Amino acid sequence: MFFKLTDEQLMIQSMVREFSRKVVAPTAAERDQTKEFPAENFKKMGELGLMGMMVPVEYGGEGTDTVSYVLALSEIAYSCASTAVVMSVHNSIVCESIRRYGNEEQKQKFLPSMTSAEIIGAFALTEPHAGSDPVSQLTTAVRDGDYYVLNGTKRFITSGKNGGLVIVTAKTDEAKRHKGISAFIVERDTPGLIVGHTEDKMGLRASDTTDLIFEDCRVSAENLLGKEGDGFKIAMTALDGGRIGISAQSVGVAQAALDAAVKYAKGRDQFGKKISKFQGLRWIVADMATEIEAARQLMFSAAAMKDRGEKYTLQASIAKLFASEMVNRVTGKALQMHGGYGFTKDYPVERFYRDARVFTIYEGTSEIQRVVISNQIFKDKRKP
Ligand code: CAA
Repeated sequence: MFFKLTDEQLMIQSMVREFSRKVVAPTAAERDQTKEFPAENFKKMGELGLMGMMVPVEYGGEGTDTVSYVLALSEIAYSCASTAVVMSVHNSIVCESIRRYGNEEQKQKFLPSMTSAEIIGAFALTEPHAGSDPVSQLTTAVRDGDYYVLNGTKRFITSGKNGGLVIVTAKTDEAKRHKGISAFIVERDTPGLIVGHTEDKMGLRASDTTDLIFEDCRVSAENLLGKEGDGFKIAMTALDGGRIGISAQSVGVAQAALDAAVKYAKGRDQFGKKISKFQGLRWIVADMATEIEAARQLMFSAAAMKDRGEKYTLQASIAKLFASEMVNRVTGKALQMHGGYGFTKDYPVERFYRDARVFTIYEGTSEIQRVVISNQIFKDKRKP
């Protein structure tokens, strides 16, 4: 599908591009070293409307479409993938789930402080022994009067430490398998919610990834998201949107890697001429550009299907699978084009390479995307 962006979408893209390159990019390498969470940048992003892009205006959001959102997210990822993943989980998963499944009180209570970035959202589905198979999770939520009492451990939670609110899934009825899982909105200061181990990761180092431990954590029944038993559906729907977000992160990082490689090739002399003059390298650049453009179109088409209210599970997984594998190929080639310098911290390309590595893993591995894609194809009744 060839995509023609509207004037408004182009305006958002250019506004975020300017912000990203002026404010986010200059400190990205330093953040990668210090692992400092860019809290101030998120406040500025809140002011610019980037932390509640698809939230309706009446709850403090911008009410933009998903196409505008992926444009903005890929511009942030271009400069700093750590900042982008926090923005992605916050917008695509947490704000979207509250917007879609929250009742009026929950939307009024939580969304305005999220859109201003006063509160960053986290999403807790994964557990130490339940990654690709979230139905096997062990966290429980037992009703006790006006409360649910949560017990269990969640793992690999983006913004587990710096988040102010987490959507957590837990079993309310063991016997019902996925239909016995419910989702809760839990605020950071809730007694019994403990931030556990923080991971020391190879990439996305300025975004904290932690365990969250629930120890007799009493959560008001008012914070049940949707109905009891809706938790798995809420998580799967959230991940459909999240996967479009990962395709946008992939496109942003890949474009940054391509631009860095082209700049390097234009400046580097070997054998008496710029290495950009060698056909061997030019063909690599052509392949990189082609793959990025293909991923961009898949990202747009998934986002546009969501905006049109169509079912987009298949398209989101296709976009995520292709884009996340593409960015791993592209950052590898960009690093190779830098020769020995690519392996040093003097150039940003080694950070792009490390940051992109997790894109084929989180929010559903490439193998899980293939399960989703093939399941969708085989159950399509329109197919012969
Ligand atoms: N939308 C709505 N409902 C869905 C759905 C979707 N996309 N996918 C499945 N469902 C529903 C099904 O309709 C079914 O419901 P019914 O019984 O009512 O029909 C139910 O969910 C169960 O479906 P399946 O039998 O297909 O479920 P399954 O147990 O076989 O699992 C799976 C399917 C695709 C493998 C799924 O478990 C999955 O996506 N796993 C990967 C999980 C994942 O992505 N984890 C990443 C965690 S988030 C993260 O990375 C953290 C971060 O902070 C970045």
